[in-house]
Amino acid sequence: MIQTKNLTKIYNGITAVDNVSLEVPSGELCVLLGPSGCGKSTLLKMINALVPPTSGEIFVNGKNTHDIPVELLRRGIGYVVQNVGLFPHYTVMRNIGVVMKLLNKPKEDIEKRALFLLDLIGLPRSYASRYPRELSGGEAQRVGVARALAADPAILLMDEPFGSVDPLNREHLQNSFTEIQKTLKKTVLFVTHDVSEALMLGDRILLMQEGRIVREGTPGDLVFQEGDNFSQAFFGSEMALKLLSRYRVGQAYTKGMKIQNAACQPSRVGEAIPCLVSGNMPLSEALSLMIINGCRELAVSGDGFPQGTLSFESLLSYFRKGAPNVQ
Ligand SMILES: Nc1ncnc2c1ncn2[C@@H]1O[C@H](COP(=O)(O)OP(=O)(O)OP(=O)(O)O)[C@@H](O)[C@H]1O
Ligand SMILES: [Mg+2]
Repeated sequence: MIQTKNLTKIYNGITAVDNVSLEVPSGELCVLLGPSGCGKSTLLKMINALVPPTSGEIFVNGKNTHDIPVELLRRGIGYVVQNVGLFPHYTVMRNIGVVMKLLNKPKEDIEKRALFLLDLIGLPRSYASRYPRELSGGEAQRVGVARALAADPAILLMDEPFGSVDPLNREHLQNSFTEIQKTLKKTVLFVTHDVSEALMLGDRILLMQEGRIVREGTPGDLVFQEGDNFSQAFFGSEMALKLLSRYRVGQAYTKGMKIQNAACQPSRVGEAIPCLVSGNMPLSEALSLMIINGCRELAVSGDGFPQGTLSFESLLSYFRKGAPNVQ
């Protein structure tokens, strides 16, 4: 668990973080969302003892961080630094294994784990021997994520971890991370200024403005409940579409309905033949397929999902039931 009480940071008379009290319960992925300069990184840096607070307190697993030796605190927390911060004179392998080495893990374990993490972040294993200067910005950022995950810490502080990764790899990382989180249930404070990313990943979202938390709730709460002008403007009028990528066809479809001529590939606009989709497809993709194919229904099958239908109406009624939460 991470907790802050009345946490404030003032830099040369400018208040970067203003009296923030927050709590991230164990196992929750909490997103800190807000525009540039609102104090997100400063908040994370204070939790990881990189920046001393001007006032207020921080607790990690119930202990005041003031009373925990800094090295011990940092070893228990995986920290993805904004703009990477890899050690330039270490190889990728050594960068990923740096905390495991501090924890005196055997060399073979470190190497095995580093290779596993390279697979996970979608980089070739041959990259293990490269140096940070030989990586693109997005590749280096992914190595930063691997480094934070390496020692399997219970707590992760992630500062715009996928910020400079291209859209395809970003989606791959977001999906991999969602999968990891489902099983490992780490306590995560995840910073982003990207509304889509926040709505897709967060169990809960804290919206920051000028150093303060101005709104909080589940992604569904934030989309379906009215917020103030800043919040409405920040989330934008497409927020419901962005929320769709969080949910899968398998959560909203109707079982047992039979569609004639179901097993066809997506066809071009105007053809009313339904497409066959997997229950694992994000609802955003399913809606996109309906629009491209000019159809109101998709046949659902595969990946252990019984046959059924996702219709435009079933999609609407899924959300009408209230803001659902991912299981
Ligand atoms: N070391 C520093 N000295 C003085 N002011 C600072 C320092 N670090 C940050 N600030 C200021 O504190 C405020 C919050 O900065 P912070 O880096 O926390 O923002 P952020 O929300 O992470 O922004 P971004 O999304 O651009 O990364 C900004 O006004 C910034 O200029
Ligand atoms: Mg920042």
